[in-house]
Amino acid sequence: MMRYQEIQQHLSNKQYCWLITGVAGFIGSNLLEALLKLNQKVVGLDNFSTGYQHNLDQTRNAVGSDMWRNFQFSQGDIRDFDECGAACKDIDFVLHQAALGSVPRSINDPILTNENNVSGFLNMLVAARDAKVKRFVYAASSSTYGDHPGLPKVESTIGQPLSPYAVTKYVNELYADVFARCYATQSVGLRYFNVFGPRQDPDGAYAAVIPLWISALIKNKPLYINGDGETSRDFCYIDNVVQANILSALISNEAAINQVYNVALNERTSLNQLYQMMRALLLEKFPHLEAHRPEYVDFREGDVRHSQADITKARSLLGFDPTHAIQEGLESAMNWYVANLSEKTEAD
Ligand SMILES: NC(=O)c1ccc[n+]([C@@H]2O[C@H](COP(=O)([O-])OP(=O)(O)OC[C@H]3O[C@@H](n4cnc5c(N)ncnc54)[C@H](O)[C@@H]3O)[C@@H](O)[C@H]2O)c1
Repeated sequence: MMRYQEIQQHLSNKQYCWLITGVAGFIGSNLLEALLKLNQKVVGLDNFSTGYQHNLDQTRNAVGSDMWRNFQFSQGDIRDFDECGAACKDIDFVLHQAALGSVPRSINDPILTNENNVSGFLNMLVAARDAKVKRFVYAASSSTYGDHPGLPKVESTIGQPLSPYAVTKYVNELYADVFARCYATQSVGLRYFNVFGPRQDPDGAYAAVIPLWISALIKNKPLYINGDGETSRDFCYIDNVVQANILSALISNEAAINQVYNVALNERTSLNQLYQMMRALLLEKFPHLEAHRPEYVDFREGDVRHSQADITKARSLLGFDPTHAIQEGLESAMNWYVANLSEKTEAD
């Protein structure tokens, strides 16, 4: 099986055309950066609903203006089928990331979540089929495990969904699977588990825990832990997610295609541990953290108690080999957090 390094080597000699939906978001912009650095051509689609121009600007700075010429951006919405069709023209691989994330957002507005995550997904799947793209890799979610208590989570065993968001992500998997049967399309679904890294949005009511807390720590603001802090997650650094996407697009092993995979570390970190890790990393630069303590509030509706991925399937079929555990990921991203979240302090 081709390992990730060999695939990167292959890409540096062969230029494909990729479409990244949700390219102005956290994961999308990191995929863009990695592909441009591998001298690939990339088309990006985004409607800026939760993504930002500044994510694209930072990516341009990271890759330089020469490589940036291989990128073509289209502001558009996956709820519009014609825009999906236009974006898929002459594309080899689709990395479909566009969706409305967040469990609480979906509980507050299930219709909007369904329109983006189910209707938008179906539009993209049909457009990719019609354009005869080689493969459709899409962001699935660990939320699909729902109320199943088993740990670690194995792809074949899921429970009942706990939120409208989880339903939409499971429906994505069902559609991808049925398209393979009905139209012989090739897809790979990646069940991400709590991804973190540079360019993840720290702001707003639906911010993910790591940038939200780092922002609070840097600014010495109150930091709230939902429940008793023993809720745990398999936090996955962005570089591991980038690797899983590129492997999924290029893997030639027949058995690996039209499958879903857990993308994480098979490690479990409690919220209390996460808080201590971040505080320790920031303490030297921000001595005010000596006195900082978290505040414990109610458990959050729709949250699962524990989450941990079995990654045997991704290791054996995709050759997935994560490079960053949580501590290494936090260390790698820390400069970005400090530079970007501190800037906002001055503007406050
Ligand atoms: N971050 C995580 O921990 C995590 C975990 C599991 C699954 N996922 C999935 O990964 C994907 C990317 O997540 P992210 O963390 O980068 O979120 P993000 O909000 O930063 O990125 C999503 C991007 O999609 C765009 N978008 C949303 N709706 C769109 C539409 N209708 N048309 C065009 N663009 C649209 C947004 O503007 C944004 O730029 C999502 O599908 C999400 O559900 C993320």
